[in-house]
Amino acid sequence: MLIHSFAKLNLALAIINKRPDNYHNLNTLFERISLGDKIILKTRRDKLIKIHCSAQGVPRDKANLCWQAARLLQDKFGIEKGLDIKIIKRIPVAAGLGGGSSNAASVLLALNKLWKLKLSKSRLAALGVQLGSDVPFFIYNAPFAQGQGRGEKIRPLDKLHKVKLWHILVTPKIHVSTPLVYKEFDAFSGLTKPASNVKIIISKLAKKNPLFKPGLLFNSLEPVTLKLYPEVGRIKAKLKRLGLRNNLMSGSGGAVFAIVASKEEAVRVARRLKKEQATWRAFAVSTI
Ligand code: C5P
Repeated sequence: MLIHSFAKLNLALAIINKRPDNYHNLNTLFERISLGDKIILKTRRDKLIKIHCSAQGVPRDKANLCWQAARLLQDKFGIEKGLDIKIIKRIPVAAGLGGGSSNAASVLLALNKLWKLKLSKSRLAALGVQLGSDVPFFIYNAPFAQGQGRGEKIRPLDKLHKVKLWHILVTPKIHVSTPLVYKEFDAFSGLTKPASNVKIIISKLAKKNPLFKPGLLFNSLEPVTLKLYPEVGRIKAKLKRLGLRNNLMSGSGGAVFAIVASKEEAVRVARRLKKEQATWRAFAVSTI
């Protein structure tokens, strides 16, 4: 069974407060993008779950979120079969693009069919959030969705189903630690307290007006990650010099994206950055 597993961007990410369980309540706008991994699932007769992946930084043991997703369903529903899971990685790891969460969600959705579990989306999302805060967004399979709570309260934005944005997306070679970014955010809270622009962005998108004024897109974590990982700031500065002032970090970073007017512009900027900046990765991607 071959499955596709797409990445996400956060067009906005506002941290509302810290919760008693040490997670943070968010108000975020997710966008599913065309950059994706492929996953091949094969049933095994024994009960083992084996991960096959040659990409650097992807665990091949029980730390892998695909492994955890399969084990969760195996245990919960007494499944006696095992799985070979091959992951063909394109999504940069630990970059704020939700790659691991997306892979886990894809496995949950596929096994729900393969093992005839008949679980609803909301049940799968509730199981998925135990693996990662971004898993529920990918369970709902929507191009745009608002996420609240820890990320588990998902509202698919059906009114945006005709909106297709193009982006230039750039990632540094470094891996960003999400727990470290949140810890620093807590230590320096007060550093940024932006009002939530999520509603305004959604209404602008609905009116097909995606080239926002600089400053509308925002991410509460961006100043913290920029301080911890200066390379992310260098990407932002470069995009600004190319006239792309309206750029933003996704999730806890270090991926940075900008909304551009067309596919041609996205491809042109990606080509140029690939030539000039060998240590970064650059992609032309769209809503999917
Ligand atoms: O859920 P996930 O594994 O993606 O979270 C990684 C880390 O990010 C958590 O351990 C927590 O420190 C932080 N986090 C948070 N609030 C969220 C999501 C993540 O504090 N809503």
